[in-house]
Amino acid sequence: MFFPLEKFKEKKKIVLLRADYNVDFNRKGMLLDDFRLRQTLPTINYLEGLKSKIILATHLDRPKKYDKSLSTKRLIPFLERIFQKKVVFLNNFSQEEETIKKKIEKYPFPTIFLLENLRFFKGEVERDKSFARQLSSLAEFYVFDAFSVCHRNHSSVTLLPKLLKTYQGKLLTQEIENLKKVMENPVKPLTLILGGFKAETKLPLIERWQKMADYILIGGVLAATFLVAQKKEVGKSIYEPFLIPKAKEILKKGKIVLPVDFAVVRCQRKKNVEIENLRKNDLIQDIGKETIKNFSQIISQSKTIVWNGPMGCFEDKRFRNGTFSLAQAIVSTKAFSLVGGGETLLALKQSKVREKFSFLSTGGGAMLQFLSGKKMPCLKN
Ligand code: 3PG
Repeated sequence: MFFPLEKFKEKKKIVLLRADYNVDFNRKGMLLDDFRLRQTLPTINYLEGLKSKIILATHLDRPKKYDKSLSTKRLIPFLERIFQKKVVFLNNFSQEEETIKKKIEKYPFPTIFLLENLRFFKGEVERDKSFARQLSSLAEFYVFDAFSVCHRNHSSVTLLPKLLKTYQGKLLTQEIENLKKVMENPVKPLTLILGGFKAETKLPLIERWQKMADYILIGGVLAATFLVAQKKEVGKSIYEPFLIPKAKEILKKGKIVLPVDFAVVRCQRKKNVEIENLRKNDLIQDIGKETIKNFSQIISQSKTIVWNGPMGCFEDKRFRNGTFSLAQAIVSTKAFSLVGGGETLLALKQSKVREKFSFLSTGGGAMLQFLSGKKMPCLKN
């Protein structure tokens, strides 16, 4: 389907590169994490070596129409710092196709360009053929390096590869290799750790991994959903009621390890509370001390560990102990450790041990879907 990038040897060509620079900014407009940007460097360097004109394409957030605050233009200073090169912004390419083409022509080989946010154009999400043709007419070749959107059936993901000869970027190759490694040939014991929320994306993964993994450790909002399924009190904590029947089914099949205590907010104070002692007004914010011990014990025996989703509200310093302690426990083992999901990567960055993990996936939803064994629209997995 995609050709390996190493097979692309033609010099001085115009290459459209689909990356995923869907990132978050803080209130001051600074990037919370530039990991996704940096991860595309190997592909950029390869294409620069061939003196390509590289036209970067990405989406940013989920706008339905033009929104200045979500213009990809704001990525330029960060990309320029990482690439150590000027990046030329190409604005509304769909209305000003000819002007944009002339602009691209005017610049020498090699140059890096950046297109406007793909999701400003409804043709991207609606998979409109004429939008895809317009996009493809800007370049001679396509390089797809956006693993984290592989689960989307959008123009730049599934139509563009039909219109241009397409090569697989280096990041995408690495992602597939590492995810396959934990799915097809994991050294046992194999432990899956899941937290965060959006349980609907995680339950299919749990069901599949109940057949493969030795332990499935659950924290975050996900844990509260399982506890309610066991008819336990979770106080005012957030959980996902519509998933309770599925959670009940999963619990019957085993391998699930749930927290036995939590760090909660009780009367505006932080308190460590065992499950049986949770009260109606308690708000779960993190896994508790005993749970950290139990989970760390399992982690210390594991040879392969896969993790997606923080254990608690790590953004609040009082409730990051669960996530940080598990991170420390994982990097203290010799296990192969694979972790993904935007929030989890951000938490690990703050914990300062992120670079000690064996592989960091740029995928969130895409990683979960791949690990669930579901077909990805643009991959032959
Ligand atoms: C992500 O951040 O996981 C990807 O960029 C996909 O974004 P989406 O969920 O808006 O399609």
